Amino acid sequence: MIGVREASAVSNSPDLIIVGVFVADASYRAERLPRIGETLAGESFALGPGGKGSNQAVAAARLGSKVAFISRTGTDAFADMAWSMWQREGIEPLVFKDAGSATGSAFIFVDAASANNAIIVVPGAAGEIEAADLDRHRASIESSRLFMTQLEVPCAVAAHGLRMARNAGVTTILNPAPAITLTDDMLADCDYLIPNETEASILTGCAVASLADAERAAGLLRGRGCGCVIITLGAGGALFDDGKEPTHIPATHCGEVIDTTGAGDAFCGAFAHALLGGRAPVDAARFACRAASLSVTRAGTAKAMPSRADMEAADGGP
Ligand code: RIB
Repeated sequence: MIGVREASAVSNSPDLIIVGVFVADASYRAERLPRIGETLAGESFALGPGGKGSNQAVAAARLGSKVAFISRTGTDAFADMAWSMWQREGIEPLVFKDAGSATGSAFIFVDAASANNAIIVVPGAAGEIEAADLDRHRASIESSRLFMTQLEVPCAVAAHGLRMARNAGVTTILNPAPAITLTDDMLADCDYLIPNETEASILTGCAVASLADAERAAGLLRGRGCGCVIITLGAGGALFDDGKEPTHIPATHCGEVIDTTGAGDAFCGAFAHALLGGRAPVDAARFACRAASLSVTRAGTAKAMPSRADMEAADGGP
């Protein structure tokens, strides 16, 4: 079992360091995507905070974790949205403001009938983060208990962070989204790898369309060096494989599904929080499934992350 190291009784440093992207999500709900050359009337529009890393930081912080976020923004209105949200949510921003760069944005299509989504993300300033940004915050990374990143930042930066954390004895999580093929060296630096079905399929080159496929993909990824693989399966819950018997965790029904965007981020943030709280990894994954199931009952991404009180009300406990 891969746990996390004990919290220091004296240190006030963050337990969880997340390296990732903030972007402003422009979310359009419509009955379908328009064809090229076509204009389509949609049902609704919302602009709000997003970006996988920042969403994950919000998810963990709302549940009560001490979180710091390493990234870059510009100095524009989207950056103001980010900085005021991190302050509201109690997230420590270890973020470089680059006046020469624009904060990114994501186009999100939410299918009105299924509540499923399709996304185009342009990371902007956060996509220009470099290994040196992480080196500047080496002390915070090395004294943390858990390190998490995704692939909206350049892959080399994610790899650098995973290696730095791993060398310091910090437990590591990679949410390989959006997916690209990864080297075995990088996978071996991941205590936990949390892809969805599409990402697991890109990482392994095998279709992941069933629980049996997910078990096979998890086995392949573990064989390449990851400690534990958790494949999120949308309405199908998650498949947890730490090398013992693979465990299927069903999704919890928490109400009408409004918007599935950011459910993976709710899962990752809640999983990190539960590990830090000392839950066994498979229990942390169950907790994360409940958090993700709650998040899809609300519109938006960061805004939809459940709080500790929401989880207690849904019988998940903190
Ligand atoms: O995982 C959902 C997120 O992916 C959205 O908030 C969007 O910004 C994209 O980065």
